[in-house]
Amino acid sequence: MAAPYAEHFLDLKRQIAETYPDFEARATQAWGDIINELDKMVATVSTQGSDYIPQVKFSELSSLSLEKVEEIRRIGTVVIKDVVDDAEARSWQDSLKEFVKVNPDIRGFPAGDMQFFELYWTKPQVQARSHPNLLAASAWLNKLYRDNGNGSLDGVDLSTPLTYADRFRIRHPGVQWDAHPPHIDGGAIERWEDTAFRTCFDDILTGQWRKHDPYALSGRLNARSSLYRRPNQATVFRTFQGWLAMSETEPHQGTLKVFPNVVLSNAYIILRPFFRPLVPIDSKDILDVKNWAYDISYADFPGILPRDGGFTGPRPTPETHPHLMLEKTMTSVPKVMPGDAVFWHCDVVHSVELEHTGKEDSAVMYIPAMPTTPMNKAYVEKQKESFLQGVSPPDFPKSPQKFAGNGEPVDFLSPIGLHAMGLPISV
Ligand SMILES: [Fe+2]
Repeated sequence: MAAPYAEHFLDLKRQIAETYPDFEARATQAWGDIINELDKMVATVSTQGSDYIPQVKFSELSSLSLEKVEEIRRIGTVVIKDVVDDAEARSWQDSLKEFVKVNPDIRGFPAGDMQFFELYWTKPQVQARSHPNLLAASAWLNKLYRDNGNGSLDGVDLSTPLTYADRFRIRHPGVQWDAHPPHIDGGAIERWEDTAFRTCFDDILTGQWRKHDPYALSGRLNARSSLYRRPNQATVFRTFQGWLAMSETEPHQGTLKVFPNVVLSNAYIILRPFFRPLVPIDSKDILDVKNWAYDISYADFPGILPRDGGFTGPRPTPETHPHLMLEKTMTSVPKVMPGDAVFWHCDVVHSVELEHTGKEDSAVMYIPAMPTTPMNKAYVEKQKESFLQGVSPPDFPKSPQKFAGNGEPVDFLSPIGLHAMGLPISV
C-alpha cells in the first residue's frame, strides 16, 4: 500500500519540475557534475581526517584572513577554541552532574542511565548562554551570512545574537550511542515544500549549483522549517548549530561528525529525489552516473521519514545517498578542551559517533548561533515566558522543568545575554 503522503510527495515533485524552467535537462546536467565533484572531494577529505575541520582561537576571530573565513564557509563547520575558560566550563559540568543527581524527576535517555537530559533552564545553561564570549562568537558566525539582495532585511540584525535554549548531554565512556545517525536539522520535507525555504536552494534547482550560497540571507528569514508543527522541530533560523564542550573529548570519544562541504551536500541532497538508480543499490556500479536516471514518478524523498504527524530528516544513508560516501566523508571534529565550542552550518549533515572509547564523560551544552530576525524575535518572546514560568521552550515537548538549581535572571553573565533572552537588561 502506498504511504498516505505518496500523492502529496508526487505532487510536490511535479510542481517543482514545472516551476523551474527546463528542469529535467538542467537538473540532469547538474546531477552528473555534482557526482563528479563529490568523487574528488572524498579523496581529499578521507586522507586529511579531522585536520580538515578548521580550528581557530576565539581571540583571533576578528583578525582571521579572508582565506580562513572562506574555508570556514566552505566546510561549514568550525572549532572555536577557548571561548570560555577551562575551569569555568568544567565547573558547569560538575554543577550539571550535581543537578541531575539531586533532581530525580528529570527526563532524558537512555532510561536507567541517563546521558541526554531534557533540561533547558539549569543555572549552568543560563550562564553559558549569556557568557559574553559565546554571544560574541554567535554574532561572528551570524555575520558569515550575507544579503543576497533578494528581499527585505527589515528587522534583521546579525550583530545582535538571540538565545535558543536547548539541552545538554553528559555521555559516558563505553556506551554505544545510535540516537544520532547522519542527519540535517531545521526542516525536513519543508526544504522542498515551503516556497520561502525552497528559495534558499533555487540555484541548485535551476541547475546552477556552483552559484548556490548557503549563507544567502533572504530565503532563510521567512523559511518555515516546521510546516507540520512536529515536536522537536526547530521553528527558528539558527545560522549555525553548536555546542560548548565541558570536557576534553577527542575523535572516537563520542564526538560530533560532519560532512565537510555544505554546498556539495546541499546540492546532492536537494536533487536526489528527482533521480533513481537503474541498478540494485548494492551493485558495485551504483556510483556510476550512467546508472542513475531522472525520474519524478516515484513517491519518495529519500532520507525524509514520517514522524509524529510530520516528517524528520533529511537522514542520508549509504543506501539512499551513496555518492556522499558517508563512511569516508563523515569527519570527526578535532579534539576539544573544556571551553572550546563547535559550530556547524544549519544545513550541514552531522552525526554523533557511535563509540566512546575514552575514559571520561564527554559533556556538551547545545548552544546554537541565532541572529535577530523578526521570526526569531517572536520565538524569543515566547521562549522568555517559558523560562519565567519554568516550562519547556516552545519548540520542545513538555517535560518537567521546575527544579532546585534552575537559573534566574540574576544569574545571567552579561547584559547582552539578558537581551538575547528578551529580558530587561537591568535586573
Ligand atoms: Fe542534529
